[in-house]
Amino acid sequence: MNEVKLFSPATVANVSCGFDVLGFCLDAIGDEMIIRKTVEKGIKITKIEGYDLPFEVEKNVAGVSALALYHDANPDCGFEIEIYKHIKPGSGVGSSAASAAGSVYGMNLLLGSPYSPLELTAFAMKGEALASQCEHADNIAPTLFGGFTLVKSLDPLEVLQIPTPADLFAVVIHPQIEIKTADSRKILPESISLKNAITQWSNVGSLIHGLHTNDYELISRSLNDVVVEPFRSQLIPGFERIKRTALESGALGTGISGSGPSVFNLCKSEATAHKIEQAIRVDYKKQEIPFEIYVSKINLDGIKQIN
Ligand code: HSE
Repeated sequence: MNEVKLFSPATVANVSCGFDVLGFCLDAIGDEMIIRKTVEKGIKITKIEGYDLPFEVEKNVAGVSALALYHDANPDCGFEIEIYKHIKPGSGVGSSAASAAGSVYGMNLLLGSPYSPLELTAFAMKGEALASQCEHADNIAPTLFGGFTLVKSLDPLEVLQIPTPADLFAVVIHPQIEIKTADSRKILPESISLKNAITQWSNVGSLIHGLHTNDYELISRSLNDVVVEPFRSQLIPGFERIKRTALESGALGTGISGSGPSVFNLCKSEATAHKIEQAIRVDYKKQEIPFEIYVSKINLDGIKQIN
């Protein structure tokens, strides 16, 4: 095998209460990438379609993560990377994580899979750090593992796979404005009150319990963020309107996807997901900002080879 074609999915990080630790994988949207072995050593990005991103390996998240794996593996070959971007950079659904994970996942397959998903997560984090100017794995982990993941710690890196209730669906709206992760991290406070910390960790614990026990009501009561959302929601025009509309249409909860501007809603059943999608579609037009909206199953497999 000298070439692999991949689907690298979009992801929702934070999941309201789990800032920087929780995430889940979508299947309605993702990038495609082709990774090819070359005789000439080194890493080259030979094609980028969809969005204007740097071809210089050291300036491209897929290139930086590829270099991290390449230096560790020191293989007797090189690699070419083609990126067909469908996830808009700065949209809040793990665009950089999809690219960063894609290159290392493909290279690993071509080398005979010497690395575990956890080791690939560590390489991909190097690329993600270029985009957000700090290391976090809450998009990369669900891209590589699928389903819901909890990043228990970064040092040592530990990722837990959390079960996904079978009827859980996501509706993600992407208002067409760009919010850079690095910028939306800068507006967050350095410290939080003990009262808010207690509320937040109680929600994280109960959300995990709800996912383990298929308790949709508990999931609903846990999807609250008193730490980050009050600051970041101000960057998203019509955030409260989306939340109100979605909850009135049966959503279990609504929150900012990653660092925004995308907003995710979780619900029980595909029919409810389409009802929420329609209601938001009608209501958000009043905001007069172009948007895209997706209904997605939770993607249990994560990134995958498609050739
Ligand atoms: N946890 C990160 C943040 C995810 O919210 O800044 C960025 O997509």
